Amino acid sequence: MTPVLSAHVTVHPRSPIGPINRRLFGTFVEHLGRSVYDGIYEPKHPQADSSGFRRDVIDLVRELGVTTIRYPGGNFVSGFRWEDSVGPRESRPRRLDLAWHSTETNEVGLREFSHWLELIGSELMLAVNLGTRGIQEALDLLEYANLRSGTALSNRRIADGHPEPYGVTMWCLGNEMDGPWQLGHRSAEDYGKLAAQTARAMKSFDPTLELVVCGSSSASMPTFGEWERVVLSHTYDEVDYISCHAYYEDHGDRGDFLASGVNMDRFIDSAIATADHVKAVRRSEKSINISFDEWNIWYNERFERVDKIQGSQNWPIAPRLLEDVYTVTDAVVFGSLLISLLKHADRVTSASLAQLVNVIAPIMTEPGGDAWRQTTFYPFAASAAHAVGSALPVSIECATYDTATYGRVPLVDAIATHDDTTRSAAVYLVNRSQTDPLEVTIDLGGLAFSTPSALTLADDDPLAANTLTNQNRVGLQNNASLRSDGITLTIVLPPISWTEITSSRSIETKES
Ligand code: AHR
Repeated sequence: MTPVLSAHVTVHPRSPIGPINRRLFGTFVEHLGRSVYDGIYEPKHPQADSSGFRRDVIDLVRELGVTTIRYPGGNFVSGFRWEDSVGPRESRPRRLDLAWHSTETNEVGLREFSHWLELIGSELMLAVNLGTRGIQEALDLLEYANLRSGTALSNRRIADGHPEPYGVTMWCLGNEMDGPWQLGHRSAEDYGKLAAQTARAMKSFDPTLELVVCGSSSASMPTFGEWERVVLSHTYDEVDYISCHAYYEDHGDRGDFLASGVNMDRFIDSAIATADHVKAVRRSEKSINISFDEWNIWYNERFERVDKIQGSQNWPIAPRLLEDVYTVTDAVVFGSLLISLLKHADRVTSASLAQLVNVIAPIMTEPGGDAWRQTTFYPFAASAAHAVGSALPVSIECATYDTATYGRVPLVDAIATHDDTTRSAAVYLVNRSQTDPLEVTIDLGGLAFSTPSALTLADDDPLAANTLTNQNRVGLQNNASLRSDGITLTIVLPPISWTEITSSRSIETKES
């Protein structure tokens, strides 16, 4: 394929954006569909360990490289009674989950989930219910989880088989409270007051907790911007993060869909601007960072039209919900969202891919059968492994194209990373062109890559996907077009592609 278009990327290693917090590679497990039951947990599966967790899924989650995991919701948490999910399993009640119109068996709760997290080596990020519940229940859960011993609640945890406190640091103050679909949805004013009181109470137990207050469920919410301003005006001194949530889908205009990263960039910039406005008004020394704790591709339109469960006598256990099958195009957009997060590494210091297994997930499973990687698995795993150290800004010269929603958008997006300790470096690129390969010249700005290599995700069929019957149809391919003269790299990016260039050792060759 002869490229007709060219682009130029310049890396600026001398002015890093900021350190990449490992929490940027977090994910999210909600009690929703087959995420937990028949997902990570399936006691009768041939690969299940003695606690009922699937070993093949554990291996894939480890390979994905996830850091923090947000739990147990999501919309689910806004009707959740945490006490139901602890204590002897045989006496845990079954409850209706109004968010997803399902039955929650409570077979997996805090103890089981934290055991699973130990197996995969991830940090727990807990959400409290500020929908149907309030300050007292949040405090009770905190005491149960984090107090060593000596009170009814901490002793109850010990009696429940967990002598050591869970030591949970990151806590979400509810979920998507701006959304009318949320149980207990409130106005910004009402939520801001409740979140501030809850945060104050939780920090009087432990001031070192890191608290996330709910921002907007998407940048297209009618209250976006004003919601953040009002909520932070109430909570600024008490909280550490404000959340952003964003899901993207192809509504039939692929050019638009491929530009989703532009929306994410603008969303983050606006959320930061609003947080900094409140900082200025309050003459505060402190900055509030972003926890982008739900992001992904989600074919929500299909869910609303086809999958939504209804019927007052119909409450299935672990139904198949939100089981989107991701294409190559989805994975390229997904890769561009990761680039957007890395471009904001100075202020987006925590993020959770929503979600992890079966539910809008990079990992799929079949009950009694296989577990496999979706297309989106690959950009996440590669970035989690190699986007280490600091994010480095890049300037890009390339052709643009017109989109219906975002105006004129560059064909290429990119970011670079460099780790001073290991001297490893990486460059991430997307080509949004649907028709043209692009030859990209990368000026490394004095950061020469030794023995660089490149992996690309692309396919002649932009709708190719990995499925139960064809699990390895799509993966990362070595990009043999990569050339290096020690100072500059050149590479050809196929149409609709995501690429990672890595160097195990970088050498500074000149002043940038
Ligand atoms: O991730 C699926 C759902 O998306 C979550 O439960 C909710 O927070 C969001 O609307």
